[in-house]
Amino acid sequence: MQLFTGISELVVNDLDRLGELDVIADAALLVDDGRVIWSGPSAQADTALAAHEDQIGTAGLNDDDIANGEVTSANELGGLETIDLGGKAVIPGFVDSHNHLIFAGDRSEEFAARMAGQKYSAGGIATTVAATRAATETELEANLVHLLDQAKRQGTTTFEIKSGYGLTVPDEIQALDIINRHTEESTLIAAHVVPPEFKDEPERYVDLVIDEIIPAAEGKAKWIDVFCETGAFTEDQTRRIIEAGKAVGMKPRLHANQLTEGGALKLGAELGCVSVDHATFASDEDLEILAEAGTVVTLLPSIEFSTRQPYPDARRYVDAGVSLAIASDCNPGSGFSNSMPFVIAIGVRDMHFTVEQAVWAATAGGANALQRTDVGHLGAGARADLAILDAPSYRHLAYRPGVQLVERVYSGGELIV
Ligand code: NIG
Ligand code: FE
Repeated sequence: MQLFTGISELVVNDLDRLGELDVIADAALLVDDGRVIWSGPSAQADTALAAHEDQIGTAGLNDDDIANGEVTSANELGGLETIDLGGKAVIPGFVDSHNHLIFAGDRSEEFAARMAGQKYSAGGIATTVAATRAATETELEANLVHLLDQAKRQGTTTFEIKSGYGLTVPDEIQALDIINRHTEESTLIAAHVVPPEFKDEPERYVDLVIDEIIPAAEGKAKWIDVFCETGAFTEDQTRRIIEAGKAVGMKPRLHANQLTEGGALKLGAELGCVSVDHATFASDEDLEILAEAGTVVTLLPSIEFSTRQPYPDARRYVDAGVSLAIASDCNPGSGFSNSMPFVIAIGVRDMHFTVEQAVWAATAGGANALQRTDVGHLGAGARADLAILDAPSYRHLAYRPGVQLVERVYSGGELIV
């Protein structure tokens, strides 16, 4: 059991109150068995602790000691660890709901060329496909672990991870097997780009995805995703692939309207996608349809940053009543940052999220995008996934960009950073 005290600001969050950060000043947090038992004002911590001890009764206490009247609480038995943070802000661990982390190779030259004026196109994915196919499973997993460790140090405790750089039955299945060793949020995106060997007959690749890759991936992927875009997959192909994934129990999500204002956002709502991601281009009608459907829109600030695409204006999405998330979309091509504080800072500075909306979108919003109710908030019953900031306020996440503000991280009540 752990009692965190001396919390200058505790971001608790309510998954249903879109964009509204619930913050308790001068707070404490009680954790038992990896779960949040209670979060509230410091002044009520003793009462909350006593109530919890009453509730768990004498379970876990030593019978002889109790019979002798020597102990009356977990505290006296040494079962309670009190952690005084001395005035630091605590937020829920970030929920990064969009990542492409199974890959090999480096595309820093492509990034540099973009900064010198070249345009991003879906075609670059093939460079990573070649490097990924040439790598061993051990190499791919080592690269993943390295990237996950970096992201944990930036406060991320829940990761969605996609396949999509193998594009053959064995390569996509290998990617899912690696992913499933590290997260329950696994996504099959065999429809990431048409691989070079199918360049002249893309429909045959779509058939391979539907007839062979999806059936082989049954039970290995929670999510099915498609890059629906000019240069990747058409709306008709997307519809067929998403329906095939749904038929074997995968839940749908989409890469939509990243490079052009096509019909992918509307299609995502129609297909029952839990989240449509990128949404760099969105018409008023798109936003109305997405708000009506309750589809989460996941904005990916690092992608506009590193492709020089225009930043979408989050105020339009908020005003339309859309449920928003922010994720990193860490991948070697369009944006290679796995830092949620970085994407929060850009979201605030360049997309006009308020600081509160951005922090909410990176925690509670990500949980909604993954249909998770146990993460993204610190209400009673949540997983004890915490990022402790070297700062008195969550606002510093956007106020002090580029500074290592995540000091300590707990996952399920265990210190991991
Ligand atoms: O989310 N848009 C599609 N997939 C990735 C980019 C992948 C790449 O360029 O390697 C994205 O931006
Ligand atoms: Fe992506």
